[in-house]
Amino acid sequence: MIQKSTIDRIMEATDIVEVIGEFVQLKKRGANYVGLSPFANERTPSFTVSPAKGIFKDFSSGKGGSVVTFLMELEKFSYPEALKWLAKKYGIEVEETVEAVENREEENHRESLMIVTGYAAKFFHEALLETEEGKSIGLSYFKERGFTSDTITKFELGYSPDQWEAFTGRALQDGYQQEFLEESGLSVKRDNGSLYDRYRGRVMFPIHSFTGRVIAFGGRTLKSDKNVPKYVNSPESEIYHKSNVLYGLYFAKKAIREEDNCFLVEGYADVLSVHQAGIENVVASSGTSLTVEQIRLIGRFTKNITILYDGDAAGIKASLRGLDMILEEGLNVKVVLFPDGHDPDSYVRTFGTNGFKKHIEDNKKDFILYKTDILLKEAGTDPIKKADVIREIVESVAKIPDSIKASVFIKECSYLLQIDERALLSELNKMRLAKAKKDSQQMISRHVPVDETLLEEPPVREAKDDASQEKEIIRLLLLYGNRVIDWDGIANTYIGPFMIAELSDVEFENSTCKSFIDIYRKEVENGVLPEEQHFIHYPDKEIVDLTVTLIATKYTLSENWYEMHKILVPDEQVNMKATILGAIFHLKKQKVGKILETLRSELQKTLGEADQEILLNQYMHMKRVEKTISDYLGSVILK
Ligand code: CTP
Ligand code: MN
Repeated sequence: MIQKSTIDRIMEATDIVEVIGEFVQLKKRGANYVGLSPFANERTPSFTVSPAKGIFKDFSSGKGGSVVTFLMELEKFSYPEALKWLAKKYGIEVEETVEAVENREEENHRESLMIVTGYAAKFFHEALLETEEGKSIGLSYFKERGFTSDTITKFELGYSPDQWEAFTGRALQDGYQQEFLEESGLSVKRDNGSLYDRYRGRVMFPIHSFTGRVIAFGGRTLKSDKNVPKYVNSPESEIYHKSNVLYGLYFAKKAIREEDNCFLVEGYADVLSVHQAGIENVVASSGTSLTVEQIRLIGRFTKNITILYDGDAAGIKASLRGLDMILEEGLNVKVVLFPDGHDPDSYVRTFGTNGFKKHIEDNKKDFILYKTDILLKEAGTDPIKKADVIREIVESVAKIPDSIKASVFIKECSYLLQIDERALLSELNKMRLAKAKKDSQQMISRHVPVDETLLEEPPVREAKDDASQEKEIIRLLLLYGNRVIDWDGIANTYIGPFMIAELSDVEFENSTCKSFIDIYRKEVENGVLPEEQHFIHYPDKEIVDLTVTLIATKYTLSENWYEMHKILVPDEQVNMKATILGAIFHLKKQKVGKILETLRSELQKTLGEADQEILLNQYMHMKRVEKTISDYLGSVILK
């Protein structure tokens, strides 16, 4: 067990913002820091770190806690593992009480696997540097390829001896269990039950998790025999999910954040050479085509990806469609090709760091424009093929969540395709609306885990009322709730909380609108400004429906406006004060009208004189309220 005094020293040294900042791009907002949740896929940051309280809270997944909780959640560390990770980071010596020294058998499953892969990395690394075979075959190969000792050490490169049981035998001798050797893929079971080495006579590239632990290997053969596979990679296991891992990310993440860009290459060698050249923001997808998970992983650190392709890559066209998913994730993609016969590895070794950087600067092309180029060349003068190209390009643009950015692309594509911009825009709007509908349906069917307190009974829908005035309020909250008010007399507050306060005396009738307002109020009371995404991902179908309907209205509006004026200014934004107060007081007037109606019908029933008088007084009072509101609406705000 780790001693209490050690834990105290670790916690004292730990800066929660610094630690979490290694995994999540954080921005300061007031006293807190916010970023995109590493536990859920989101585009609007809901992940909050409070350095003063020493806690984080992730509003998307509901997870929250201390810096230790964070590491346990993210890396599936055990409690002592998380503490040791922090201790290592802050250079604190860990004192443990004797009786509970770590016992491999007691560690949980994942941990055991990682202990085995970590042990193996060390074994291969030592075999590379300290055995005759490793030095003469593996090390000389790496040196020949230009890798320095620093690179070899940093990336823990290794060598697997060309024998059947060199690694397995040693591991068993050192007390590692068959179960974990087999599951991690380091050893393979023969029919007779005995184990042999998966990697033999290969140079070894350990693959690190993004917290820096070895979770898998790629082993490259040094033989030119065609029958020998060039690479042997670890199989999927409890600690290694290929589609969730990027080679080199652990060593690249700091630079990715600093450069606000991530270079994506194809192979291990490319990562090593480019990194060694001082360009450290580089990762590889390692032989698989890029997955959504990998894109989201990059998206935690930057919104910009630059893909570096071999010039001769035959698969470029095939990969084009796959890359649309990067756009869908809201990231910017640029593409750089290398001249025939060169990959990033050979290019940077031939032309040096500056030559490499210059090549990228001179040749980087935005993905959509690059795609347009390639498809157009292929279509030639065939009008039918050209129509297909147009559709395909607009499809790509439609995947960009940011509509202003999309409009810019439409403009450029209209030039490249020689097509009227407005025709492209109208095609884009059609696709976008269809997509919004589809998304909303998917979101509803998807089960979103949330705090149980948020799971309320679905409200019963009322058939009768015309709730347009109530919906107008909600539309304004969704659209402008997070804007700061700067009107004469009122300032230093956001529109959302202001509206909520102004409407505190109003009872919403439509049950969905009422729930929406209740949710909004609750969030505001917790000091959070709920945004669009909060309601789009809400578990209640009615809320999602209402939100999406109102947002879809916004899209149509702004796009028409863009089309007409080439600017984004719907007229309601010209006088926000009138828009907001107008909506509030129209709703209030409607409510007062309803009360008056009820009072009138009560008055018509024959009642005692005393009751009559009370009702009449109420009626007169409400009349005065109505008059006040009407005057206010009429003179101060709107007709
Ligand atoms: N790859 C693989 N299995 C193969 C071939 C390739 O897993 N049989 C993956 C590896 O991750 C490799 C990447 O695809 O790094 C790119 O392949 P390639 O360009 O052939 O390998 P390089 O790493 O560039 O190797 P080298 O430059 O040493 O030939
Ligand atoms: Mn290569």
